[in-house]
Amino acid sequence: CASTHISALPQEVMVRLFRYLGPEDLCRCSQVCHAWAQVVKTGLLWRHLYPVRWARGDYYRGPPGEPDQDADEDWVRNLQEEGRAYQEWDEDADVDESEEACEDTLAISAVRKEKKLLNGMIQNLLPAVGSSVRTLSLAYSAAVSSKMVRQILSLCPNLIHLDLTQTDVTDSAFEGWAELGACRTLEHLDLSGCEKITDYTLKILSLGLGDLTTPRLSKNSPDRKNKLLKTPPSAIKLLDKHSGYSLGRARTALVFKWRPGGRSMSCSPVWVLDPAELADIEDAADWTRREGVAGHNEGRSGILGVQAGGRSCCCRMMRSFRTDIGSTYLQQLYGTLGEVQCGHSACCSSDTALRTVKGAQCEPQATGGNTELWTKCPSEGESRTDQSGACRALRFLSLSGCYQITDFGLRCLSQAGGLPLLEHLNLSGCLFITEVGLHELVSVCPSLKDEHFYYCDNINGPHADRASGCQNLQCGFRVCCRSGE
Ligand code: FES
Repeated sequence: CASTHISALPQEVMVRLFRYLGPEDLCRCSQVCHAWAQVVKTGLLWRHLYPVRWARGDYYRGPPGEPDQDADEDWVRNLQEEGRAYQEWDEDADVDESEEACEDTLAISAVRKEKKLLNGMIQNLLPAVGSSVRTLSLAYSAAVSSKMVRQILSLCPNLIHLDLTQTDVTDSAFEGWAELGACRTLEHLDLSGCEKITDYTLKILSLGLGDLTTPRLSKNSPDRKNKLLKTPPSAIKLLDKHSGYSLGRARTALVFKWRPGGRSMSCSPVWVLDPAELADIEDAADWTRREGVAGHNEGRSGILGVQAGGRSCCCRMMRSFRTDIGSTYLQQLYGTLGEVQCGHSACCSSDTALRTVKGAQCEPQATGGNTELWTKCPSEGESRTDQSGACRALRFLSLSGCYQITDFGLRCLSQAGGLPLLEHLNLSGCLFITEVGLHELVSVCPSLKDEHFYYCDNINGPHADRASGCQNLQCGFRVCCRSGE
């Protein structure tokens, strides 16, 4: 009988066969002929991407492991040493023949291979299969840059699992993420050890996750985006809570009344935002902050390309915080802004109050039955979807070691319906958050599990008796206020 050539097989059968191959073999297959190259560019074959592992010969391409599964220590140490060697590497340096130099060369070549692979993915693979990608792990990558992450995120709008653990990315990596709608499907975000991440990223994330509260404008309306991103504090109106009359526009939008001696979240709102101008008080603070600290952060600026303290507010912490890195940052961030820009309701001494979140630990005191603009918290496990398809599906969020995060960032996440499905929250090493920000966020995370809730041991925050403590105490390379003790 006549034999049938493999090229005669239908494409579906070829895809089925190719599913048994790893990325390296797929890469080789893509070089066989044009037809095979097309089959290799089938999204089904590229659901889960682990370029850091692939560059080192580990071609796993299944779904990610359990969130709490610790990475292999030797593996992590090796990657860190490679990263260090790569950073010190100077292409123009004389060739050193010593044994140490030889090891360095191996480390450097691994990172260079990783970089080449990442570039190959961005240029050749992701434009074809990006919308099918569900998992992207770049954990411990020394080669990935913020620009690369930004490009990848724009090419992979349906990510469910994103792991950027211990990378050098900055806020600029997430520029435009919200506009792409790429956060809508996100369930797992690991930014552990990304020390350059600030509240700005959390703001973008919250915006991108969508709004579970009834939006006044369509999510895709340019008006709404402009309003959220560009409204300066001077455009936010204050209303007299009792009369409902406008009291003019707020020059400093964050004005809180704090009741000393009360439980942390017992505050009495006096001023509320005009619902017609609900551009978020956080935007007001963000604007002030951006103006105040302009220039502080980095500007927001084959197929894979390879052959086969406790209760204190940050303002007070600044006086007692022990490490240079922390005090320098705080001085840069808040030094010239005055107390109203710190974003902490507890440390603003004005006689007025503004709050937008109501939660179990945050019952407003009755002040005459006036209308308040609380963001409603959905009941436990409930997934709500607004007209634009937002469900704020995030289940896992780790900001461990992201020491620049403040209550302001937590408050951004608390907005627009909170995080109703969030089960795991790691805020270990976030030195500038306080119990106020924690309470506010936790009050809109009804699914949060105490055993998966981590924050600094020096904060007397929510679920203090049941929540897990700081995870960075014994960790030699991630920020912790007790490191070195
Ligand atoms: Fe305070 Fe680790 S950050 S105990």
